Amino acid sequence: MRYIKLRDLEVSRIGLGAMGMSHGYTGSGTDEAESIKTVHRALELGVTLIDTAEIYGPYTNEELLGRALKGRRDQVVVATKFGLVSHAGEGAWNLDSSPANLRTAVEGSLKRLGTDHIDLYYQHRVDPNTPIEETAGAVAELISEGKVRAFGLSEAGPDTIRRAHAVQPVTAVQSEYSLWTRGIEERILPVLRELNIGLVPFSPLGRGFLTGTVRSTDQFDASDFRRDNPRFSAENFQRNLALADEVQALASQVGATSAQVALAWLLAQGDDIAPIPGTKRVSRVEENTAADAITLTSEQINTLSSLPPAAGNTHTEAQAQMLER
Ligand SMILES: NC(=O)c1ccc[n+]([C@@H]2O[C@H](COP(=O)([O-])OP(=O)(O)OC[C@H]3O[C@@H](n4cnc5c(N)ncnc54)[C@H](OP(=O)(O)O)[C@@H]3O)[C@@H](O)[C@H]2O)c1
Repeated sequence: MRYIKLRDLEVSRIGLGAMGMSHGYTGSGTDEAESIKTVHRALELGVTLIDTAEIYGPYTNEELLGRALKGRRDQVVVATKFGLVSHAGEGAWNLDSSPANLRTAVEGSLKRLGTDHIDLYYQHRVDPNTPIEETAGAVAELISEGKVRAFGLSEAGPDTIRRAHAVQPVTAVQSEYSLWTRGIEERILPVLRELNIGLVPFSPLGRGFLTGTVRSTDQFDASDFRRDNPRFSAENFQRNLALADEVQALASQVGATSAQVALAWLLAQGDDIAPIPGTKRVSRVEENTAADAITLTSEQINTLSSLPPAAGNTHTEAQAQMLER
Protein backbone atom coordinates (compact mmCIF):
# COMPACT_ATOMS: atom_id res chain seq x y z
CA MET A 1 0.00 0.00 0.00
CA ARG A 2 1.24 3.45 -0.81
CA TYR A 3 0.73 6.46 1.44
CA ILE A 4 -0.04 10.09 0.70
CA LYS A 5 -0.49 13.28 2.64
CA LEU A 6 -3.73 15.09 3.16
CA ARG A 7 -2.07 18.42 3.93
CA ASP A 8 0.32 17.13 6.65
CA LEU A 9 -1.66 14.05 7.68
CA GLU A 10 -0.23 10.82 6.28
CA VAL A 11 -2.82 8.22 5.23
CA SER A 12 -3.01 5.14 3.03
CA ARG A 13 -4.09 6.23 -0.44
CA ILE A 14 -7.03 3.84 -0.15
CA GLY A 15 -8.97 4.03 3.10
CA LEU A 16 -11.99 2.14 4.42
CA GLY A 17 -15.49 3.55 4.80
CA ALA A 18 -17.20 1.88 7.75
CA MET A 19 -20.70 3.34 7.32
CA GLY A 20 -22.25 0.35 5.54
CA MET A 21 -21.26 -1.96 8.38
CA SER A 22 -24.04 -0.39 10.45
CA HIS A 23 -26.15 1.81 8.25
CA GLY A 24 -27.58 2.57 4.84
CA TYR A 25 -27.17 -0.53 2.72
CA THR A 26 -28.67 -3.97 2.37
CA GLY A 27 -27.32 -6.18 5.13
CA SER A 28 -25.99 -3.29 7.23
CA GLY A 29 -25.81 -4.16 10.91
CA THR A 30 -26.39 -7.87 10.38
CA ASP A 31 -22.90 -9.34 10.75
CA GLU A 32 -20.71 -7.68 13.35
CA ALA A 33 -18.10 -10.46 13.31
CA GLU A 34 -17.48 -10.09 9.57
CA SER A 35 -17.42 -6.29 9.89
CA ILE A 36 -14.75 -6.47 12.58
CA LYS A 37 -12.74 -8.95 10.52
CA THR A 38 -12.99 -6.52 7.62
CA VAL A 39 -11.49 -3.73 9.71
CA HIS A 40 -8.68 -6.01 10.90
CA ARG A 41 -7.96 -7.24 7.38
CA ALA A 42 -7.82 -3.65 6.14
CA LEU A 43 -5.20 -2.84 8.77
CA GLU A 44 -3.17 -5.92 7.80
CA LEU A 45 -3.24 -4.75 4.19
CA GLY A 46 -1.83 -1.37 5.19
CA VAL A 47 -5.02 0.70 5.29
CA THR A 48 -4.62 3.45 7.87
CA LEU A 49 -7.60 5.74 7.17
CA ILE A 50 -10.93 4.57 8.57
CA ASP A 51 -14.05 6.66 8.20
CA THR A 52 -17.15 6.81 10.37
CA ALA A 53 -19.60 9.45 11.70
CA GLU A 54 -21.76 10.13 14.72
CA ILE A 55 -24.89 9.92 12.53
CA TYR A 56 -24.16 6.42 11.20
CA GLY A 57 -26.63 4.37 13.15
CA PRO A 58 -26.72 6.94 14.79
CA TYR A 59 -23.87 6.05 17.11
CA THR A 60 -23.70 2.29 16.42
CA ASN A 61 -21.04 2.61 13.72
CA GLU A 62 -18.66 4.49 16.03
CA GLU A 63 -19.35 1.89 18.72
CA LEU A 64 -18.55 -0.94 16.32
CA LEU A 65 -15.34 0.75 15.26
CA GLY A 66 -14.39 1.28 18.90
CA ARG A 67 -14.71 -2.46 19.45
CA ALA A 68 -12.81 -3.28 16.25
CA LEU A 69 -9.93 -0.95 17.11
CA LYS A 70 -9.38 -2.18 20.66
CA GLY A 71 -5.64 -2.73 20.99
CA ARG A 72 -5.09 -1.41 17.44
CA ARG A 73 -5.93 2.26 17.87
CA ASP A 74 -2.38 3.47 17.21
CA GLN A 75 -2.30 1.93 13.72
CA VAL A 76 -5.16 4.07 12.44
CA VAL A 77 -6.10 7.57 11.42
CA VAL A 78 -9.63 7.63 12.81
CA ALA A 79 -11.92 10.04 10.99
CA THR A 80 -15.40 10.85 12.28
CA LYS A 81 -17.93 13.62 11.75
CA PHE A 82 -20.18 15.94 13.74
CA GLY A 83 -23.05 18.25 12.89
CA LEU A 84 -25.91 15.97 11.81
CA VAL A 85 -27.14 15.28 15.33
CA SER A 86 -28.51 18.21 17.30
CA HIS A 87 -27.96 17.16 20.92
CA ALA A 88 -29.81 19.93 22.71
CA GLY A 89 -32.40 20.31 19.98
CA GLU A 90 -34.17 18.06 17.59
CA GLY A 91 -31.91 15.04 17.49
CA ALA A 92 -30.62 13.04 14.53
CA TRP A 93 -30.61 14.39 10.97
CA ASN A 94 -30.77 18.00 12.14
CA LEU A 95 -27.92 20.33 11.28
CA ASP A 96 -26.13 21.79 14.28
CA SER A 97 -22.51 22.87 14.15
CA SER A 98 -22.78 25.32 17.03
CA PRO A 99 -19.80 25.28 19.41
CA ALA A 100 -22.01 23.97 22.25
CA ASN A 101 -23.23 21.06 20.12
CA LEU A 102 -19.68 20.28 19.08
CA ARG A 103 -18.58 20.07 22.72
CA THR A 104 -21.28 17.47 23.41
CA ALA A 105 -20.69 15.59 20.17
CA VAL A 106 -16.95 15.20 20.60
CA GLU A 107 -17.28 13.67 24.06
CA GLY A 108 -19.74 11.08 22.76
CA SER A 109 -17.59 10.19 19.76
CA LEU A 110 -14.45 9.82 21.91
CA LYS A 111 -16.28 7.54 24.29
CA ARG A 112 -17.83 5.34 21.61
CA LEU A 113 -14.57 5.08 19.69
CA GLY A 114 -12.69 4.20 22.90
CA THR A 115 -10.02 6.81 22.34
CA ASP A 116 -8.74 10.07 23.79
CA HIS A 117 -8.36 11.77 20.40
CA ILE A 118 -9.96 11.90 16.96
CA ASP A 119 -7.38 12.18 14.17
CA LEU A 120 -9.61 13.90 11.64
CA TYR A 121 -12.85 15.55 12.72
CA TYR A 122 -15.14 16.64 9.91
CA GLN A 123 -18.13 18.89 9.92
CA HIS A 124 -20.60 16.53 8.17
CA ARG A 125 -22.69 19.23 6.48
CA VAL A 126 -22.49 23.01 6.55
CA ASP A 127 -24.92 24.48 9.08
CA PRO A 128 -26.57 27.63 7.69
CA ASN A 129 -27.44 28.77 11.23
CA THR A 130 -23.87 28.78 12.55
CA PRO A 131 -21.20 30.93 10.92
CA ILE A 132 -18.43 28.58 9.82
CA GLU A 133 -15.92 30.76 11.68
CA GLU A 134 -17.59 29.79 14.97
CA THR A 135 -17.45 26.11 14.11
CA ALA A 136 -13.82 26.34 12.99
CA GLY A 137 -12.98 28.22 16.20
CA ALA A 138 -14.58 25.49 18.30
CA VAL A 139 -12.59 22.82 16.44
CA ALA A 140 -9.43 24.88 17.00
CA GLU A 141 -10.12 24.75 20.74
CA LEU A 142 -10.56 20.96 20.61
CA ILE A 143 -7.25 20.75 18.75
CA SER A 144 -5.49 22.84 21.39
CA GLU A 145 -6.93 20.53 24.07
CA GLY A 146 -5.57 17.47 22.22
CA LYS A 147 -9.02 15.94 21.64
CA VAL A 148 -8.81 16.43 17.90
CA ARG A 149 -5.76 16.38 15.61
CA ALA A 150 -7.06 17.77 12.33
CA PHE A 151 -10.09 19.56 10.91
CA GLY A 152 -12.17 18.52 7.92
CA LEU A 153 -15.30 19.60 6.05
CA SER A 154 -17.75 17.54 4.02
CA GLU A 155 -19.68 18.75 0.95
CA ALA A 156 -18.72 22.36 1.70
CA GLY A 157 -18.57 24.98 -1.05
CA PRO A 158 -15.57 27.14 -1.99
CA ASP A 159 -16.55 30.12 0.15
CA THR A 160 -17.10 28.02 3.27
CA ILE A 161 -13.82 26.21 2.70
CA ARG A 162 -11.91 29.49 2.47
CA ARG A 163 -13.60 31.02 5.51
CA ALA A 164 -13.06 27.92 7.64
CA HIS A 165 -9.46 27.58 6.53
CA ALA A 166 -8.72 31.18 7.53
CA VAL A 167 -9.66 30.35 11.14
CA GLN A 168 -8.33 26.80 11.42
CA PRO A 169 -6.39 25.15 8.58
CA VAL A 170 -8.51 22.48 6.93
CA THR A 171 -6.69 19.18 6.40
CA ALA A 172 -9.22 17.46 4.13
CA VAL A 173 -12.56 17.94 2.45
CA GLN A 174 -14.68 14.81 2.07
CA SER A 175 -17.12 15.01 -0.82
CA GLU A 176 -18.73 12.62 -3.22
CA TYR A 177 -16.42 11.96 -6.16
CA SER A 178 -16.35 9.04 -8.54
CA LEU A 179 -16.60 8.12 -12.19
CA TRP A 180 -20.28 9.01 -12.20
CA THR A 181 -20.22 11.99 -9.80
CA ARG A 182 -17.71 14.57 -10.96
CA GLY A 183 -19.35 17.79 -9.75
CA ILE A 184 -16.45 18.89 -7.55
CA GLU A 185 -13.93 19.07 -10.40
CA GLU A 186 -14.73 22.58 -11.53
CA ARG A 187 -15.26 24.63 -8.40
CA ILE A 188 -13.98 22.64 -5.41
CA LEU A 189 -10.87 20.76 -6.48
CA PRO A 190 -9.02 23.91 -7.65
CA VAL A 191 -9.65 25.57 -4.27
CA LEU A 192 -8.39 22.52 -2.41
CA ARG A 193 -5.22 22.52 -4.49
CA GLU A 194 -4.68 26.23 -4.04
CA LEU A 195 -4.97 25.89 -0.25
CA ASN A 196 -3.13 22.54 0.02
CA ILE A 197 -6.15 20.70 1.39
CA GLY A 198 -6.53 16.97 0.71
CA LEU A 199 -9.60 15.37 -0.87
CA VAL A 200 -11.31 12.28 0.50
CA PRO A 201 -13.83 11.02 -2.07
CA PHE A 202 -16.83 9.34 -0.49
CA SER A 203 -18.99 6.78 -2.30
CA PRO A 204 -16.06 6.20 -4.70
CA LEU A 205 -17.77 3.06 -6.02
CA GLY A 206 -20.97 4.95 -6.79
CA ARG A 207 -22.68 3.31 -3.80
CA GLY A 208 -21.79 -0.05 -5.24
CA PHE A 209 -23.22 0.66 -8.69
CA LEU A 210 -19.87 1.09 -10.47
CA THR A 211 -18.73 -2.36 -9.32
CA GLY A 212 -21.15 -3.91 -11.83
CA THR A 213 -22.65 -6.15 -9.15
CA VAL A 214 -25.85 -4.14 -8.74
CA ARG A 215 -27.98 -5.25 -11.68
CA SER A 216 -31.44 -4.74 -10.20
CA THR A 217 -32.90 -2.71 -7.35
CA ASP A 218 -34.76 -5.88 -6.30
CA GLN A 219 -31.44 -6.75 -4.63
CA PHE A 220 -32.05 -3.97 -2.07
CA ASP A 221 -33.80 -4.59 1.23
CA ALA A 222 -36.43 -2.17 2.56
CA SER A 223 -33.94 -0.12 4.60
CA ASP A 224 -31.47 0.39 1.73
CA PHE A 225 -31.26 4.14 1.08
CA ARG A 226 -30.57 3.58 -2.61
CA ARG A 227 -34.29 2.81 -2.97
CA ASP A 228 -34.96 6.57 -2.74
CA ASN A 229 -31.91 7.67 -4.72
CA PRO A 230 -32.78 9.15 -8.14
CA ARG A 231 -29.89 7.36 -9.86
CA PHE A 232 -31.50 4.07 -8.86
CA SER A 233 -35.08 5.00 -9.87
CA ALA A 234 -36.66 2.58 -12.36
CA GLU A 235 -36.03 4.78 -15.38
CA ASN A 236 -32.54 6.05 -14.51
CA PHE A 237 -31.26 2.74 -13.25
CA GLN A 238 -31.79 1.05 -16.62
CA ARG A 239 -30.02 3.89 -18.42
CA ASN A 240 -27.13 3.87 -15.97
CA LEU A 241 -26.51 0.15 -16.45
CA ALA A 242 -24.80 1.05 -19.75
CA LEU A 243 -22.25 3.02 -17.73
CA ALA A 244 -21.52 0.10 -15.42
CA ASP A 245 -21.11 -2.08 -18.52
CA GLU A 246 -18.52 0.30 -19.98
CA VAL A 247 -16.51 0.22 -16.76
CA GLN A 248 -16.75 -3.57 -16.82
CA ALA A 249 -15.51 -3.72 -20.43
CA LEU A 250 -12.47 -1.63 -19.59
CA ALA A 251 -11.83 -3.65 -16.44
CA SER A 252 -11.72 -6.84 -18.54
CA GLN A 253 -9.07 -5.24 -20.76
CA VAL A 254 -7.01 -4.27 -17.71
CA GLY A 255 -7.44 -7.66 -16.06
CA ALA A 256 -9.01 -6.07 -13.00
CA THR A 257 -12.47 -5.82 -11.48
CA SER A 258 -14.80 -2.88 -12.08
CA ALA A 259 -14.40 -1.77 -8.46
CA GLN A 260 -10.63 -1.70 -8.86
CA VAL A 261 -10.83 0.30 -12.08
CA ALA A 262 -13.20 2.84 -10.49
CA LEU A 263 -10.69 3.30 -7.66
CA ALA A 264 -7.63 3.36 -9.93
CA TRP A 265 -9.25 6.16 -11.96
CA LEU A 266 -9.70 8.18 -8.76
CA LEU A 267 -6.10 7.55 -7.67
CA ALA A 268 -4.93 8.78 -11.06
CA GLN A 269 -6.56 12.16 -10.38
CA GLY A 270 -3.80 13.17 -7.95
CA ASP A 271 -1.66 12.22 -4.99
CA ASP A 272 -3.71 14.50 -2.75
CA ILE A 273 -6.73 12.17 -3.03
CA ALA A 274 -7.55 9.26 -0.71
CA PRO A 275 -10.85 7.48 -1.51
CA ILE A 276 -12.65 5.52 1.21
CA PRO A 277 -14.51 2.64 -0.45
CA GLY A 278 -17.09 1.17 1.89
CA THR A 279 -17.50 -2.51 2.55
CA LYS A 280 -18.42 -4.86 5.36
CA ARG A 281 -16.77 -7.91 3.80
CA VAL A 282 -13.21 -9.20 4.03
CA SER A 283 -13.13 -10.37 0.40
CA ARG A 284 -14.10 -6.93 -0.86
CA VAL A 285 -11.64 -5.03 1.29
CA GLU A 286 -8.97 -7.26 -0.24
CA GLU A 287 -10.25 -6.55 -3.74
CA ASN A 288 -10.56 -2.81 -3.18
CA THR A 289 -7.18 -2.25 -1.54
CA ALA A 290 -5.50 -4.18 -4.38
CA ALA A 291 -6.51 -1.28 -6.65
CA ASP A 292 -3.45 0.51 -5.25
CA ALA A 293 -1.30 -1.69 -7.50
CA ILE A 294 -3.24 -0.96 -10.69
CA THR A 295 -1.94 1.69 -13.06
CA LEU A 296 -4.15 2.73 -15.93
CA THR A 297 -2.70 4.03 -19.19
CA SER A 298 -3.53 7.60 -20.14
CA GLU A 299 -5.75 6.24 -22.89
CA GLN A 300 -7.69 4.15 -20.37
CA ILE A 301 -7.99 7.12 -18.04
CA ASN A 302 -9.30 9.24 -20.92
CA THR A 303 -11.83 6.59 -21.89
CA LEU A 304 -13.14 6.53 -18.32
CA SER A 305 -13.10 10.32 -18.02
CA SER A 306 -15.18 10.55 -21.21
CA LEU A 307 -17.99 8.28 -20.07
CA PRO A 308 -21.40 9.90 -20.55
CA PRO A 309 -22.91 11.57 -17.48
CA ALA A 310 -25.10 9.46 -15.22
CA ALA A 311 -28.88 9.78 -15.39
CA GLY A 312 -30.48 11.28 -12.29
CA ASN A 313 -29.28 13.28 -9.35
CA THR A 314 -26.91 11.71 -6.89
CA HIS A 315 -29.05 12.78 -3.91
CA THR A 316 -32.74 13.10 -3.09
CA GLU A 317 -34.18 16.65 -3.05
CA ALA A 318 -33.99 16.82 0.75
CA GLN A 319 -30.40 15.57 0.87
CA ALA A 320 -29.35 17.89 -1.95
CA GLN A 321 -30.50 20.88 0.06
CA MET A 322 -27.76 20.15 2.58
CA LEU A 323 -25.00 20.22 -0.03
CA GLU A 324 -23.01 23.32 -0.94
CA ARG A 325 -22.03 22.88 -4.54
N1 LIG B 1 -19.41 12.58 4.05
C1 LIG B 1 -20.55 12.06 3.67
O1 LIG B 1 -21.58 12.72 3.61
C2 LIG B 1 -20.60 10.59 3.29
C3 LIG B 1 -21.70 10.08 2.59
C4 LIG B 1 -21.69 8.72 2.23
C5 LIG B 1 -20.63 7.92 2.59
N2 LIG B 1 -19.58 8.46 3.30
C6 LIG B 1 -18.40 7.63 3.67
O2 LIG B 1 -17.84 7.08 2.48
C7 LIG B 1 -17.73 5.67 2.61
C8 LIG B 1 -17.90 5.01 1.27
O3 LIG B 1 -19.09 5.39 0.64
P1 LIG B 1 -20.33 4.41 0.43
O4 LIG B 1 -20.19 3.27 1.36
O5 LIG B 1 -21.57 5.25 0.49
O6 LIG B 1 -20.22 3.96 -1.09
P2 LIG B 1 -19.19 3.13 -1.98
O7 LIG B 1 -17.91 2.96 -1.28
O8 LIG B 1 -19.22 3.81 -3.29
O9 LIG B 1 -19.96 1.73 -2.15
C9 LIG B 1 -20.29 0.92 -1.07
C10 LIG B 1 -21.18 -0.20 -1.58
O10 LIG B 1 -20.45 -0.98 -2.53
C11 LIG B 1 -20.39 -2.35 -2.12
N3 LIG B 1 -19.02 -2.80 -2.45
C12 LIG B 1 -17.86 -2.41 -1.89
N4 LIG B 1 -16.80 -3.00 -2.49
C13 LIG B 1 -17.31 -3.76 -3.46
C14 LIG B 1 -16.73 -4.62 -4.42
N5 LIG B 1 -15.42 -4.76 -4.52
N6 LIG B 1 -17.56 -5.29 -5.28
C15 LIG B 1 -18.91 -5.14 -5.20
N7 LIG B 1 -19.52 -4.33 -4.31
C16 LIG B 1 -18.73 -3.65 -3.44
C17 LIG B 1 -20.69 -2.34 -0.64
O11 LIG B 1 -21.34 -3.53 -0.26
P3 LIG B 1 -20.74 -4.52 0.88
O12 LIG B 1 -20.57 -3.71 2.12
O13 LIG B 1 -21.79 -5.54 1.00
O14 LIG B 1 -19.45 -5.03 0.33
C18 LIG B 1 -21.65 -1.14 -0.52
O15 LIG B 1 -22.96 -1.53 -0.84
C19 LIG B 1 -18.82 5.31 3.63
O16 LIG B 1 -18.57 4.06 4.24
C20 LIG B 1 -18.75 6.47 4.58
O17 LIG B 1 -17.73 6.26 5.54
C21 LIG B 1 -19.55 9.77 3.63
